[in-house]
Amino acid sequence: MARAKKVVLAYSGGVDTSVCIPYLMQEWGVEEVVALAVDLGQGDDLEAIRQKGLKSGASQVIVQDAREEFVADYAFNALLANALYEGSYPLATALARPLIARLLVKCAKAVGADAVAHGCTGKGNDQVRFDVSISALDPRLKILAPAREWGMSREETIAYGERFGIPSPVKKKSPYSVDFNLLGRSVECGMLEDPWQEPPEEVYAMTRAVSDTPAESTYLEIDFVRGIPVALNGSSLRPIPLVTELNRLAGENGIGRIDMVENRLVGIKSREIYECPAGVVLIQAHQALEALTLPREVSTYKRGIEETYAQLVYNGLWYSPLRQALDAFVEETQKTVSGTVRLRLHRGTATVVGRKSAFSLYAPKLATYSEGDTFDHQAAEGFIYVWGMPTRVFSQVNLP
Ligand code: ARG
Repeated sequence: MARAKKVVLAYSGGVDTSVCIPYLMQEWGVEEVVALAVDLGQGDDLEAIRQKGLKSGASQVIVQDAREEFVADYAFNALLANALYEGSYPLATALARPLIARLLVKCAKAVGADAVAHGCTGKGNDQVRFDVSISALDPRLKILAPAREWGMSREETIAYGERFGIPSPVKKKSPYSVDFNLLGRSVECGMLEDPWQEPPEEVYAMTRAVSDTPAESTYLEIDFVRGIPVALNGSSLRPIPLVTELNRLAGENGIGRIDMVENRLVGIKSREIYECPAGVVLIQAHQALEALTLPREVSTYKRGIEETYAQLVYNGLWYSPLRQALDAFVEETQKTVSGTVRLRLHRGTATVVGRKSAFSLYAPKLATYSEGDTFDHQAAEGFIYVWGMPTRVFSQVNLP
């Protein structure tokens, strides 16, 4: 029995997703495969991908530019939540999956497909993100994941493809598995699988080695409106050029490299190298502006929300009611997060060196140690008497 009649496949142009096309038709009885290639700023030659998809047997290859949507509706939402998985990873790969899933579902409707497919294996997080997102958006759609079931080694996969006219990779295959989009690069496999080994310089593509960075500092100003970055050094920029330019500036200064061992949702620990130049700088700047403009209690409470938010994105729950609820909270907090942050980029580090806002809660007259201080020092004594009461009483009762 055929698993499906007409399938829309998330297509990258790589060996695995190319082999998925004949595999779906030959082994699983699918009549027609439509390949969907989504442009998220990965810099591939999209025309070459289109040709390769057709050569691999797709009835059509649809190329869709989703860069603006990716940055504005996915990456910037996560920025408002300062989302960093396990405190470090800005979620570049994780944020792209729900968007690709949404486009797959939309495309399936448009071309009348009864299933969608992706090339994820059974060990990673991405299969979870795709499957959960797709079934949240259309619970009736079938989801096919050939690479999760075919059990072929890399060599076998290439040989299978060759039988159907899919050329084996021309270059000697890099030992790394790389995922790349406007927000960053994720690199694993090869020698990186040994968490004791320092990553060789060749794994990096968006950032310079610190030893190669300019000796001069680069100063940078970022304007935010309600938490969203809208300008660099005083010039207004749309989301794509803003992130692109920030990737360049931060990358040149060696900023945004992350080497981490993380906990995958499927229980495995894995070692991954990330490059997220713009992401790292934006989160740092955004946090600095929040520190100036959010009341203490909101900041404290929001930190817990941020942790939950990052886990939710990582764990594939983008289209969950929880994300909508958290977004509503986060958005409410951003009403006053407008202003400018100044940073110094130098030798692999971004440092916030200034911040200003019309909503600044920083009150110079309260903060100053110089003349003009309006803080009521006398009031402190009574406050401390009450604040310290529980601790004092505990000691009175329990100290020997
Ligand atoms: N560990 C990251 C995540 O789960 C990236 C996964 C993809 N990595 C890769 N090198 N292909 O979001």
